[in-house]
Amino acid sequence: MSPMFVPGPVDVAPEVLAAQAKPMMPHRSTEFEEIFRRTGEKLQKIFFTQYRVFQGTHSGSGMQEAGIRNFVQESVLSCVNGAFAQRWNDVAIANGKKTDKIEVDWGQVITPDMLRDALKKKHYEAVTIVHNETSTGAENPVKELCEVVREVSPDTLILVDAVSSLGGVKIEMDALGIDFLLTSSQKCFALPPGLSFAGVSDRAMKKAESVENRGWYFDLVLMEKHRVKDSTPMTPAMSLIFALDVQLDRILEEGLEIRFARHAEMAKRTQDWAIKHGMQPLAPEPYRSKTVSTIQNSKNMDIKNLNKFLLQRGMRIANGYGKMKDVTFRIAHMGEIQTSDVDKLLGLMDEFLAQMPK
Ligand SMILES: Cc1ncc(COP(=O)(O)O)c(C=O)c1O
Repeated sequence: MSPMFVPGPVDVAPEVLAAQAKPMMPHRSTEFEEIFRRTGEKLQKIFFTQYRVFQGTHSGSGMQEAGIRNFVQESVLSCVNGAFAQRWNDVAIANGKKTDKIEVDWGQVITPDMLRDALKKKHYEAVTIVHNETSTGAENPVKELCEVVREVSPDTLILVDAVSSLGGVKIEMDALGIDFLLTSSQKCFALPPGLSFAGVSDRAMKKAESVENRGWYFDLVLMEKHRVKDSTPMTPAMSLIFALDVQLDRILEEGLEIRFARHAEMAKRTQDWAIKHGMQPLAPEPYRSKTVSTIQNSKNMDIKNLNKFLLQRGMRIANGYGKMKDVTFRIAHMGEIQTSDVDKLLGLMDEFLAQMPK
C-alpha cells in the first residue's frame, strides 16, 4: 500500500478490501441483521453517542440532503466558510428551503459572535455547520458554536458535517449537543466510498416526524422503523457493510484516543514543516485542520510536477480546491496514514524544494 496524502478516497487496508469479497446473503436474514446491528453499535462509540447512528449506503452528500429534508420545514441558517459548507447551503436551496447564510472568506472560521448575532435577529429551525472544511483546512469551533445555539435559540437543531474529520478527531456528539452528525466512509474511516453515517438525537427524530415532504429514500423516520429491527427499507450495499464491520474493529483496536493523537501529531508535523519553509497554513491558529493541512503555496511549487516526482516514489498529495487550486496545496493525513509516512513524504518534499530553481 503506497500512501496517498489526499482527502479521500484514501488508502484502504488489504484485509478491509478483502472483506468485500464475502459471499452475499439475503439482506433480510438473521446473519446480515446481526452484522448491521454490531456495525451500528460500534459506530455509536466513535460518534460518542447514546443515540442511533444511521448507516446510509450512499455518499455523505446524501446525508447532507437527509439532514435538510428531515429537520427543516422552512428555514435554515447555513454557516459557510468553504466549498462543502456552500454545498450544504445549495442542497437546502435545491430542496426549496428558505436559507440565510453567515459567510466568511475561505480559510476563516465562523465565530461564536457571528452566530450569536444571526440567531438573535431571526429564529431558525436548524443551523448547518461543517466541522472540518476540506476545501480550506479550517476547523470550525464547533463546541463554542453549539454553546451559542443552546444559549440563544435552544430549540434550533444543530446539524454538523464532519465528513473529513470524524474518526480522526474526537467529536463528542452528545456532550456537545449535536443533533445530526454526519460523515462519509472514504476519509478518516479509511473505507471505500459509498457509505455515510449519521448520528441523530431523539429530539431531532421527534422533529422529523412533523416535517412534511421528507421524500422517501432519505426519510429517517422510515429508516428508523427498520433500523430498530437491524435493517433498512431498501437493499443496502452489503459488501461495504462487511468491510465496515472489519474496519470498525481495526479502529477500535487501535484505540480512539491513540487514533486522535496520531492525527493531531501528523497535522503538527506537516504544519511545522510548512512554516519552517516559509509557507503558512491557510487557516489561522488554533483552527487548523488535524486531517487535511492546507498550505499557502508561497514557494510557487508546480504541484503537478511535485506530484509527478512523488508518484515516482509511490506517493501523492492534493492540489488546492476550486478557486484555491494553485494558491494552496493540501496534504491529507487521515485513516491508515502513519506519522512515519508523513516523515517520509516531508523528506521527499524537502528534496523537491532543494532541486527547484532559486
Ligand atoms: C466536508 C465535506 N462535506 C461533504 C462532502 C461530500 O461528501 P461525499 O463526497 O461523500 O458525498 C465532502 C467531500 O469531500 C467533504 O469534504
